[in-house]
Amino acid sequence: MQAKFITFEGLDGSGKSTHLERAADWLETSGLSCRATKEPGGTPLGDALRGVFLDPSWGALDGTVESLVIFASRRQHLLEVIEPALAAGTHVLCDRFTDSTVAYQGHGRGVALDLIERIDAIATGGRVPDHTLLFDLPAEEAHRRGQSTSREVVDRLDAEDLAFYRRVREGYSRLVGAHPDRFTTIDSSGPAERTWRRVQQVLAELLGLEERSLVTDAG
Ligand code: TYD
Repeated sequence: MQAKFITFEGLDGSGKSTHLERAADWLETSGLSCRATKEPGGTPLGDALRGVFLDPSWGALDGTVESLVIFASRRQHLLEVIEPALAAGTHVLCDRFTDSTVAYQGHGRGVALDLIERIDAIATGGRVPDHTLLFDLPAEEAHRRGQSTSREVVDRLDAEDLAFYRRVREGYSRLVGAHPDRFTTIDSSGPAERTWRRVQQVLAELLGLEERSLVTDAG
Protein backbone atom coordinates (compact mmCIF):
# COMPACT_ATOMS: atom_id res chain seq x y z
CA MET A 1 0.00 0.00 0.00
CA GLN A 2 1.18 3.51 -0.81
CA ALA A 3 2.11 5.54 2.28
CA LYS A 4 -0.71 7.80 3.43
CA PHE A 5 -0.69 11.40 4.58
CA ILE A 6 -3.25 11.62 7.41
CA THR A 7 -4.01 14.79 9.35
CA PHE A 8 -5.63 15.33 12.75
CA GLU A 9 -7.64 18.54 13.09
CA GLY A 10 -9.85 20.25 15.64
CA LEU A 11 -10.17 23.04 18.16
CA ASP A 12 -7.55 23.50 20.84
CA GLY A 13 -8.49 21.23 23.71
CA SER A 14 -10.12 18.62 21.44
CA GLY A 15 -7.59 15.96 22.46
CA LYS A 16 -6.27 15.36 18.93
CA SER A 17 -2.58 15.65 19.92
CA THR A 18 -2.87 13.00 22.64
CA HIS A 19 -4.68 10.62 20.27
CA LEU A 20 -2.13 11.25 17.52
CA GLU A 21 0.78 10.21 19.77
CA ARG A 22 -1.10 7.13 20.85
CA ALA A 23 -2.06 6.27 17.27
CA ALA A 24 1.56 6.53 16.09
CA ASP A 25 2.70 4.14 18.86
CA TRP A 26 -0.11 1.74 18.07
CA LEU A 27 0.61 1.69 14.32
CA GLU A 28 4.32 1.05 14.94
CA THR A 29 3.42 -1.79 17.30
CA SER A 30 1.13 -3.16 14.60
CA GLY A 31 4.11 -3.29 12.23
CA LEU A 32 3.44 -0.19 10.14
CA SER A 33 6.14 2.40 9.50
CA CYS A 34 4.75 5.71 10.66
CA ARG A 35 5.96 9.24 11.38
CA ALA A 36 4.18 11.56 13.84
CA THR A 37 4.67 15.27 13.29
CA LYS A 38 2.96 18.61 13.94
CA GLU A 39 2.23 22.12 12.74
CA PRO A 40 3.16 24.83 13.21
CA GLY A 41 6.60 23.26 13.62
CA GLY A 42 7.88 19.82 12.68
CA THR A 43 11.36 21.06 11.67
CA PRO A 44 13.97 23.22 13.43
CA LEU A 45 12.95 26.25 11.32
CA GLY A 46 9.27 25.40 11.83
CA ASP A 47 9.75 25.19 15.60
CA ALA A 48 11.36 28.63 15.59
CA LEU A 49 8.42 30.00 13.55
CA ARG A 50 5.99 28.27 15.94
CA GLY A 51 7.62 30.16 18.83
CA VAL A 52 7.13 33.45 16.98
CA PHE A 53 3.57 32.57 15.95
CA LEU A 54 2.37 31.66 19.45
CA ASP A 55 4.24 34.36 21.40
CA PRO A 56 1.59 36.34 23.35
CA SER A 57 3.82 39.42 23.45
CA TRP A 58 2.81 40.40 19.88
CA GLY A 59 -0.82 40.85 20.97
CA ALA A 60 -3.33 40.70 18.11
CA LEU A 61 -1.70 39.92 14.77
CA ASP A 62 -3.18 40.53 11.34
CA GLY A 63 -4.58 37.25 9.97
CA THR A 64 -2.63 37.53 6.72
CA VAL A 65 0.62 37.94 8.65
CA GLU A 66 -0.32 34.83 10.63
CA SER A 67 -1.04 32.93 7.41
CA LEU A 68 2.31 33.86 5.86
CA VAL A 69 4.23 32.73 8.95
CA ILE A 70 2.26 29.47 9.07
CA PHE A 71 2.76 28.70 5.39
CA ALA A 72 6.51 29.35 5.63
CA SER A 73 6.62 26.73 8.39
CA ARG A 74 4.39 24.42 6.30
CA ARG A 75 6.53 24.57 3.16
CA GLN A 76 9.66 23.73 5.13
CA HIS A 77 7.79 20.89 6.83
CA LEU A 78 6.63 19.44 3.51
CA LEU A 79 10.09 19.65 1.94
CA GLU A 80 12.06 18.41 4.92
CA VAL A 81 9.76 15.87 6.58
CA ILE A 82 6.41 15.01 4.98
CA GLU A 83 7.27 14.34 1.34
CA PRO A 84 10.52 12.45 2.10
CA ALA A 85 8.73 10.23 4.63
CA LEU A 86 5.93 9.42 2.18
CA ALA A 87 8.44 8.75 -0.60
CA ALA A 88 10.20 6.28 1.72
CA GLY A 89 6.93 4.41 2.31
CA THR A 90 6.29 5.81 5.81
CA HIS A 91 2.76 6.84 6.74
CA VAL A 92 2.62 10.41 8.08
CA LEU A 93 0.30 11.42 10.93
CA CYS A 94 0.31 15.20 11.06
CA ASP A 95 -1.19 17.30 13.85
CA ARG A 96 -2.83 20.16 11.85
CA PHE A 97 -2.25 21.21 8.24
CA THR A 98 -3.89 23.66 5.80
CA ASP A 99 -7.42 22.99 7.12
CA SER A 100 -6.26 24.71 10.34
CA THR A 101 -5.34 27.82 8.38
CA VAL A 102 -8.71 27.84 6.62
CA ALA A 103 -10.54 27.37 9.96
CA TYR A 104 -8.43 29.69 12.18
CA GLN A 105 -7.15 32.41 9.86
CA GLY A 106 -9.97 32.18 7.28
CA HIS A 107 -13.08 31.70 9.42
CA GLY A 108 -11.60 32.77 12.76
CA ARG A 109 -9.76 35.92 11.65
CA GLY A 110 -11.67 36.70 8.46
CA VAL A 111 -8.84 36.29 5.94
CA ALA A 112 -10.38 35.83 2.48
CA LEU A 113 -10.47 32.12 1.63
CA ASP A 114 -9.26 32.72 -1.91
CA LEU A 115 -6.20 34.54 -0.54
CA ILE A 116 -5.40 31.48 1.63
CA GLU A 117 -5.86 29.31 -1.46
CA ARG A 118 -3.39 31.46 -3.40
CA ILE A 119 -0.75 31.35 -0.65
CA ASP A 120 -1.34 27.61 -0.37
CA ALA A 121 -0.75 27.19 -4.11
CA ILE A 122 2.63 28.93 -3.78
CA ALA A 123 3.69 27.26 -0.53
CA THR A 124 2.49 23.68 -1.00
CA GLY A 125 1.27 23.43 -4.59
CA GLY A 126 -2.19 22.78 -3.10
CA ARG A 127 -1.07 19.61 -1.29
CA VAL A 128 -4.10 17.90 0.27
CA PRO A 129 -3.98 15.12 2.89
CA ASP A 130 -5.24 11.67 1.90
CA HIS A 131 -7.53 11.67 4.91
CA THR A 132 -8.41 13.96 7.81
CA LEU A 133 -9.76 13.07 11.26
CA LEU A 134 -11.70 15.99 12.73
CA PHE A 135 -11.95 15.89 16.53
CA ASP A 136 -15.16 17.71 17.22
CA LEU A 137 -16.51 19.13 20.45
CA PRO A 138 -18.65 22.14 21.35
CA ALA A 139 -16.82 25.47 21.18
CA GLU A 140 -17.80 26.18 24.81
CA GLU A 141 -16.05 23.02 26.03
CA ALA A 142 -12.94 23.64 23.93
CA HIS A 143 -12.78 27.23 25.14
CA ARG A 144 -13.15 26.12 28.76
CA ARG A 145 -10.27 23.64 28.34
CA GLY A 146 -8.13 26.28 26.59
CA GLN A 147 -8.62 28.76 29.43
CA SER A 148 -8.02 26.19 32.16
CA THR A 149 -5.63 27.47 34.78
CA SER A 150 -4.17 23.95 35.03
CA ARG A 151 -2.50 24.51 31.64
CA GLU A 152 1.12 25.47 32.13
CA VAL A 153 1.47 27.75 29.12
CA VAL A 154 -1.26 29.91 27.66
CA ASP A 155 -0.34 30.85 24.09
CA ARG A 156 -1.62 33.69 21.90
CA LEU A 157 -4.45 31.62 20.41
CA ASP A 158 -5.57 30.10 23.73
CA ALA A 159 -6.41 33.63 24.84
CA GLU A 160 -9.05 34.09 22.09
CA ASP A 161 -12.68 34.55 23.11
CA LEU A 162 -15.56 32.10 22.74
CA ALA A 163 -16.85 33.79 19.56
CA PHE A 164 -13.51 33.02 17.89
CA TYR A 165 -13.73 29.34 18.88
CA ARG A 166 -17.28 29.25 17.46
CA ARG A 167 -16.16 30.70 14.13
CA VAL A 168 -13.29 28.20 13.92
CA ARG A 169 -15.65 25.29 14.63
CA GLU A 170 -18.05 26.57 11.98
CA GLY A 171 -15.07 26.77 9.59
CA TYR A 172 -14.28 23.10 10.20
CA SER A 173 -17.88 22.12 9.71
CA ARG A 174 -17.90 23.89 6.31
CA LEU A 175 -14.71 22.07 5.33
CA VAL A 176 -16.37 18.75 6.15
CA GLY A 177 -19.36 19.79 4.04
CA ALA A 178 -17.07 20.68 1.12
CA HIS A 179 -14.92 17.51 1.37
CA PRO A 180 -17.12 14.78 2.86
CA ASP A 181 -14.99 11.94 1.47
CA ARG A 182 -11.72 13.21 2.92
CA PHE A 183 -13.01 13.96 6.44
CA THR A 184 -14.12 11.67 9.24
CA THR A 185 -15.64 13.56 12.16
CA ILE A 186 -14.95 12.03 15.56
CA ASP A 187 -16.97 13.17 18.56
CA SER A 188 -14.37 14.00 21.19
CA SER A 189 -16.70 15.42 23.83
CA GLY A 190 -17.04 12.08 25.65
CA PRO A 191 -14.56 9.86 27.54
CA ALA A 192 -11.08 9.68 25.96
CA GLU A 193 -11.25 5.87 25.67
CA ARG A 194 -14.39 6.06 23.54
CA THR A 195 -12.72 8.58 21.23
CA TRP A 196 -9.64 6.34 21.05
CA ARG A 197 -11.66 3.29 19.95
CA ARG A 198 -13.12 5.36 17.13
CA VAL A 199 -9.65 6.60 16.10
CA GLN A 200 -8.48 2.99 15.95
CA GLN A 201 -11.45 1.94 13.82
CA VAL A 202 -10.93 4.75 11.33
CA LEU A 203 -7.17 4.16 11.03
CA ALA A 204 -7.59 0.38 10.79
CA GLU A 205 -9.95 0.85 7.87
CA LEU A 206 -7.75 3.44 6.14
CA LEU A 207 -4.53 1.49 6.52
CA GLY A 208 -5.92 -1.99 6.00
CA LEU A 209 -5.21 -3.22 9.52
CA GLU A 210 -7.01 -6.33 10.61
CA GLU A 211 -9.55 -6.28 13.40
CA ARG A 212 -7.10 -8.53 15.26
CA SER A 213 -4.86 -5.52 16.02
CA LEU A 214 -7.79 -3.71 17.57
CA VAL A 215 -8.64 -6.65 19.78
CA THR A 216 -5.01 -7.08 20.84
CA ASP A 217 -4.69 -3.44 21.79
CA ALA A 218 -7.96 -3.49 23.73
CA GLY A 219 -6.41 -6.23 25.91
P1 TYD B 1 -1.51 23.27 18.53
O1 TYD B 1 -0.08 22.88 18.54
O2 TYD B 1 -2.48 22.29 18.00
O3 TYD B 1 -1.99 23.72 19.96
P2 TYD B 1 -1.39 23.30 21.38
O4 TYD B 1 -0.28 24.28 21.64
O5 TYD B 1 -2.57 23.52 22.28
O6 TYD B 1 -0.95 21.87 21.27
O7 TYD B 1 -1.68 24.59 17.66
C1 TYD B 1 -1.17 25.81 18.13
C2 TYD B 1 -2.10 26.93 17.74
O8 TYD B 1 -1.85 27.33 16.38
C3 TYD B 1 -3.57 26.57 17.80
O9 TYD B 1 -4.21 27.54 18.60
C4 TYD B 1 -4.07 26.71 16.40
C5 TYD B 1 -3.08 27.61 15.75
N1 TYD B 1 -2.94 27.43 14.28
C6 TYD B 1 -3.49 28.36 13.42
O10 TYD B 1 -4.11 29.34 13.87
N2 TYD B 1 -3.38 28.18 12.08
C7 TYD B 1 -2.72 27.12 11.54
O11 TYD B 1 -2.63 26.98 10.31
C8 TYD B 1 -2.12 26.15 12.45
C9 TYD B 1 -1.37 24.98 11.91
C10 TYD B 1 -2.26 26.35 13.81
